Amino acid sequence: MTTLLNTIEHAFAKKVCVAHHDRSDELLEILHEIQKEEGFLSDAALRTISKSLNLSRAEVHGVVSFYHDFKREKQAENVIKICRAEACQAVGVNELIRDAESYYGVKLDNGGDTVSLESIFCLGNCALGPAVLYNNNLYGRVSLSEIQNMIKFNKEVQGQ
Ligand code: FES
Repeated sequence: MTTLLNTIEHAFAKKVCVAHHDRSDELLEILHEIQKEEGFLSDAALRTISKSLNLSRAEVHGVVSFYHDFKREKQAENVIKICRAEACQAVGVNELIRDAESYYGVKLDNGGDTVSLESIFCLGNCALGPAVLYNNNLYGRVSLSEIQNMIKFNKEVQGQ
C-alpha cells in the first residue's frame, strides 16, 4: 500500500542521484556520498535512490546490507573499530574490549550515542596490536587510556 510518507522524496538523496545522472552503475558512489553527509542511510533515502535509479528496493537493500560499512541507523559521535583477529587477540584485545565496554557503558557491536565499539577483523597492523581504527586513523598498541585520549583530542579539535 502506498502511503503519503512513502511518496516523499529525500531531497539530498535526489540531489546526489541527479549529480550522478541517475546512473545505476554509480549506486555505490551515491550511497557513500549520502552516508558521508548524513551518517547513515535512511529508508527515505533508499526509496528515493531506488526510484531515481530505476532499481527495485530489494536491489538497493541488497547492496546496502552486503557492505558492513553502510549504516542504516544514526551512528555514535565516536565509532571505535577494534580489531578482533588472532594477532590482536594474542596481545590482549579482549581485555581492551572488556575495559572499554565497562568504561563507556556500551556493548561491542551494539550501538551507543556518544561512543560505539565495533568489531573489525585485521587492519593490517598485526605487529602492533591491539589495533584500532578511529576517524579513519589507524592506531597500534592501544589501551583504554589511548582510546580516551583519541576521543578527548577529537573533541578539542572539533571545539566541543
Ligand atoms: S590481527 Fe589485528 S591488525 Fe591484524
